[in-house]
Amino acid sequence: MKAIIQTGYNKTQIKEMPSIPLSPISIKVKTNFVPLLRYDLLKINGQVPTKLPSILGYGATGTVVAIGNLRSSSLLNKRVLILNPWGTFQEKITSNIPPLTIPILDNVSNEEATGLIGGADLALSLFKIVKNTFKQIIIYGADSVTGLVLMQLLTRFTKVPFIPKARTLSANYLKQKINEYNIKPDIEATAQKNNLIIDLVGSDINDKLYQHIQNNDEVISVAQNDLLGVKFISKPALPKDYSFLMNEISNNRLFIPINQIFNYKNFNEAIEYQTTSPSRGRNLISFKD
Ligand SMILES: NC(=O)c1ccc[n+]([C@@H]2O[C@H](COP(=O)([O-])OP(=O)(O)OC[C@H]3O[C@@H](n4cnc5c(N)ncnc54)[C@H](OP(=O)(O)O)[C@@H]3O)[C@@H](O)[C@H]2O)c1
Repeated sequence: MKAIIQTGYNKTQIKEMPSIPLSPISIKVKTNFVPLLRYDLLKINGQVPTKLPSILGYGATGTVVAIGNLRSSSLLNKRVLILNPWGTFQEKITSNIPPLTIPILDNVSNEEATGLIGGADLALSLFKIVKNTFKQIIIYGADSVTGLVLMQLLTRFTKVPFIPKARTLSANYLKQKINEYNIKPDIEATAQKNNLIIDLVGSDINDKLYQHIQNNDEVISVAQNDLLGVKFISKPALPKDYSFLMNEISNNRLFIPINQIFNYKNFNEAIEYQTTSPSRGRNLISFKD
């Protein structure tokens, strides 16, 4: 079984690994796709410390190929989204935590389900935090996967006014996605006191965030946890959150932007592409033959 292992900073290898034996409570999944996240890049380049060596990734989609004899066999041969803190960038994933294997609804594609991990799930957590606000929301990094999903949820379920912000090179992409996904931003936005700022970018926009802090705006960030005056948000999604998001997709109320798909054998190419390209949807790594 092949796995993508991080062996050092800026060092990854595709290695042959022994398959983990099936225990009575295990479930074994043949991997279809894993999402390539900014978090993975930060681990690879050493900005996020990690144990070395380790298998990259914590989420995947795939098909259940074996189930331990103490677990219900109802998921056998079914497509699932699987979360596994011990790594998912591998051809087969063995999990011993039953709730973290979530069935994929029939009319949700493997690509869309994979795109829920590390972006749409975060958007749902943010949505729950901000949905009852009386403030005007300003979203920096609105063209990100998280931003596009958050704006769809705000449009479908609230009347909260929100203003998307993206850098100039992503303005056309953002406009196109706003139309395609029927997102309704606040076009009559006026300069207002007491805004709620959402930072999906990180330290590259700190000059703007400082201005907001000076204006007494409330600032929350998912991208940096050490900025004075900014509340950091990191909240794991629950299995029922993924089921909710899949239900929205299957009812055509939620769209997940997917960009490039790379075979795992071309992992270095995927890293290079993601490092040098703006966000145009989630890039995926395929483990299909
Ligand atoms: N706290 C948590 O638990 C958690 C979990 C998952 C993700 N995250 C974080 O959540 C954020 C969104 O994730 P995502 O996967 O949706 O991100 P993404 O699709 O990779 O998008 C990143 C966003 O940052 C913008 N950006 C990058 N460099 C920039 C710069 N120099 N100046 C201005 N904007 C810049 C991108 O704009 P362009 O398209 O123009 O490049 C894009 O809007 C990321 O920061 C990620 O690390 C946090």
